[in-house]
This record gives sequence, structure tokens and C-alpha cells, in this order.
Amino acid sequence: MPAGESFYITTPIYYPSDVPHIGHGYTTVAVDTLARWHRQSGDDTWMLTGTDEHGQKMLRAAAANNVTPQEWVDRLVGEAWFPLLDTLDVANDDFIRTTQQRHEERVQQFVQAIYDHGHIYAGEYEALYCVGCEEFKPDSEIVDGTGPFEGLKVCLIHSKPLELLQEKNYFFKLSEFQDRLLELYREQPDFVRPESARNEVVSFVRQGLKDLSISRSAFDWGIKVPWDDSHVIYVWVDALLNYVTAVGYGTDPEEFARRWPAHHVVGKDILRFHAVIWPAMLMAAGVDVPKSVFAHGWLLVGGEKMSKSKLTGIAPSEIIDVFGSDAYRFYFLSAISFGHDGSFSWEDLASRYQAELANGFGNLASRTTAMIQKYFDGVVPAAGEYTDADLTIQSHVAAAGKQADAAMEQFRIDDAIEAIWVIVDDLNGYITENEPWALAREESQRERLATVLYTCAESLRALSVLLSPVMPKATTTLWTALGAEDALGALTAQPIRDAGRWGQLPVGTKVHTLAPLFPRVESTA
Ligand code: MSP
Repeated sequence: MPAGESFYITTPIYYPSDVPHIGHGYTTVAVDTLARWHRQSGDDTWMLTGTDEHGQKMLRAAAANNVTPQEWVDRLVGEAWFPLLDTLDVANDDFIRTTQQRHEERVQQFVQAIYDHGHIYAGEYEALYCVGCEEFKPDSEIVDGTGPFEGLKVCLIHSKPLELLQEKNYFFKLSEFQDRLLELYREQPDFVRPESARNEVVSFVRQGLKDLSISRSAFDWGIKVPWDDSHVIYVWVDALLNYVTAVGYGTDPEEFARRWPAHHVVGKDILRFHAVIWPAMLMAAGVDVPKSVFAHGWLLVGGEKMSKSKLTGIAPSEIIDVFGSDAYRFYFLSAISFGHDGSFSWEDLASRYQAELANGFGNLASRTTAMIQKYFDGVVPAAGEYTDADLTIQSHVAAAGKQADAAMEQFRIDDAIEAIWVIVDDLNGYITENEPWALAREESQRERLATVLYTCAESLRALSVLLSPVMPKATTTLWTALGAEDALGALTAQPIRDAGRWGQLPVGTKVHTLAPLFPRVESTA
């Protein structure tokens, strides 16, 4: 992608009916990492996240806690969802709440527009609804209950009983968009990623689409249907519209033209809403469809999708209080292939922390800065003549930068980290082979020692830049210790696509003492 282009990326907006868990944190740090990568590439980047505050799920959570739904969401958003962004070290540009006026008014405007275009009609409806999903369930996701729910129909995802709803509803003529959607998937093969998600969506749409109920009249916690205030707009229609209401749809045409369309990153549980219903809604309104929808997999705990309702929810702070936000980000983004399910376990997290962060990257940084302090009074020395081994490192650094960028461009975050990690592994091997501590004992090897340490310091310069979107804190600490802050300016101002170019850290840069980037963690077992 040429630098300077618009890059607008979103997380789903989460239900603040409860506190966040590590699954929500996973999506958010992935999106933040992609946004930081593009921001640091000079792209006109905008990252949006937020909360989805209407609907029956929220109404019930509030009732169970004896407060109004507005009080409930204000409390949860203020006490848990805003602080989560700090906990995870997320640099979002905006946070939208669907109870904000800027959203509610524009949702009504959008729904009125598609009504005026003849895409909505009134009808009767009777179907099984899952409040957990906030969705009328298709037959494929309705199963027989077991245990306490024996004899009842339950939701495949939540394993909770479905409710039979019978209402007069307004319907969106989703069925009319089948051909245009199939054409979209054909013309833009990257519209849905990864490939497995695309295949699922295409075969779902090929089977034919049913019209979608887009209003509810049994409760009033929602945005009123503009032409009939006895109905509120279906919570998913309200929620999907956040992606346009947050960037000026209907109010600020210039801003809207600058940002929209977006890339959406979502969990695979909500893929169809984003890859089928959402583009159809936009087509009906005559608004551009998103650039892409990327569906990532589920975090599994004990082999099952982690969720609060199944009591397997883990709060992000449980991990971050012990390992820190960088380790959280690194672990989930590198250990799980983005787009596939991945199992979480404390053992895996602890062992990767120790092997890859503490012993791998952290130790490399400590050794290099300590040796420059010890052997060259803390001043980055000039390299002498490069040997083949040194040139190999240089070419690997250049290749890692290119490969990581190509992978990030495809939203392959784990591949990008793997490409960058080649530098860490190479350099640790390079230090072992070159034994700078032995070179330091012989005056005749002074120039060789300088070349080896310059090679290490300059590679760490590249590593700091390339890893800063993934681990903003540790890389900033390293950047300062390398003296690069004084010599080259702020880390986030370094153009990431140029990170692999050799020779940027000036000779003579003053290196400072570096405390361990990833301190030893006491066993929690
Ligand atoms: N409010 C809707 C989304 C509306 S978007 C217009 C919603 N909210 S949610 O709070 O249930 O969040 C769902 C999202 O959280 C998933 O799509 C995924 O991004 C993330 N995850 C929730 N549980 C997860 C796992 N166990 N594993 C991975 N991601 C998970 O749906």
C-alpha cells in the first residue's frame, strides 16, 4: 500500500453487559497493532473501538442489578471498558458508544433512508431468539438441550435455552441482495478473509437469504424506528452502523470521505453480520461497502470457546498484572495463527514469556547495551570491515522488514512477528559465535569487537522499530537505552517500512543502562 493512504480499522463494539475478558482483549490488541503499524508507515490511520449498549441482553443485565440500563452501561463502560484500553496499551483514535446522540440520530437517518428507498416492509414474525447472541437463530444453530435444559431447544454457541418470539416486525429485504453480495465476493476476493471465512460466507449466501427482522416492539431499550415509535431498531442494525456514524456519516461529508470505507476485524462468531448483512445494508443506502472483513478465531480454554457465560472467562488484568501488557500483546498475537482458533494456557504463556521474551529478546538487548557500556564506555563504535556473517545479519534485517510489512498488509500478524523474530534468533546465535567477551580480551581484535557490537546495536535499532506496534512499552524503553531517542527522535516517528535499511544508528550514540525488559516472573503455579 503506498504511504499516506487512508487506513480506517475497527474492532467490534463490545457488549458492556459484563466486564471484558481476554477474548475481547485479543481482538482489540490485534486491531491496535495493525493500526500502529500503518500509522508508523505514514498512512492516514484511524482506529475505532467502542461499546454496543442497547438490546435485551443489556436490559436484563441492568434489571438483574436493579439499575436502569443507562446506569448499568455508564457504570460498566466507565469502570471496566475504558480502563481496559489503558491496561492493554491501546492507542485508539475514537471510542463510540451506541447511546451517544451522534450515533442515535445518524442511525435513524440511515434507517429512514433505506425505508424511503423501499427496502423495508412490515410483517409478522415467529422464531427462536437467543438473547446471548441477540439473534433469531438459523436452524443450523439450534440444538437440543441437555442436563437442566433437557427437552428445550438451546443455542449452539451459548448452550442456553432459546425464546420463542412472536411479534409484528419491520423487515429489511436482505433476500434481494443475494446476487450483488455474491458478485462482491467474486470481484473482491479479499473482501472476506481468511479463505476459510470467505468460503463459509459464500456458501451461506448461495443457499439463499431470508429477509431480516430489523425492529422489536416488546421492549424499548433501543433507538426508535423513526416512522413508528412503538418499535426500536434491532440492536445489530444499530450496532453495525457505529462504523459509519463514528466517522461523520450524515454530518461531516469531508471526514466521511476521508475515512470510509473501513477494514473490520471481528471474531468468527459475528462474521455473517459483517460480511452479509452489513454490506447489504450499505448497498441499500447507496453507501460504499467496507474494504474488508477479517474474521479471527476463538481463544479456547480447556478446548472450548472461552466465555463468561460458561465461567471460563479470564480478565486481561489477571495476565497483565503478572506479565505486563507487552507480553499479553506479544503472546496472543504470536502464539495464535491469526484467523484460526488457539488454546490459551498459563503454562504456554509462562514458557513463551521465559523463552522468547526474557531469554530471547530481553537478554539480547541487555547483553548488547551492557557490552557497549563495558567495552566502549557506552558509545556506539564504528564498524570496521564487514565479514560474510555480518552481511548475512544485514540482509536478514532487510528481509525481515519487507516480509513483516507484506504480512501485516495481509493482516497476518503472527507471520509478521515470526519474520521479525528471525533477527532475534540470528543475533543471539551471532553473539554466541563471535564471542565478543573473548574479542575484548585481545587488543588486536578491537576493530572486530566494534563491528560485532555495531551490528548488534544497529539490529536492535531495527528490532525496536519493527516490534513497536506489538510491544510499545518495551521497545520504547530499549529505544531510549540505545540512545536512539536522542540520535534519531521518537520511536513512533520512525518510518516502519524503512526499518530494515542498514546503518541508521549513528556512530557515537550514547547508550544508557537498560533494566531487564522482561523481568523474571515468580511461578504462579
Ligand atoms: N456487540 C456485538 C458486536 C457488534 S459489532 C457491530 C458482540 N459483542 S461481544 O461483546 O460479544 O464481542 C464479541 C467479540 O469479542 C468477538 O467477535 C471477538 O472479537 C471477541 N471475542 C469474544 N470472545 C472471544 C473468544 N473466546 N475468542 C476470541 N475472541 C472473542 O458480539
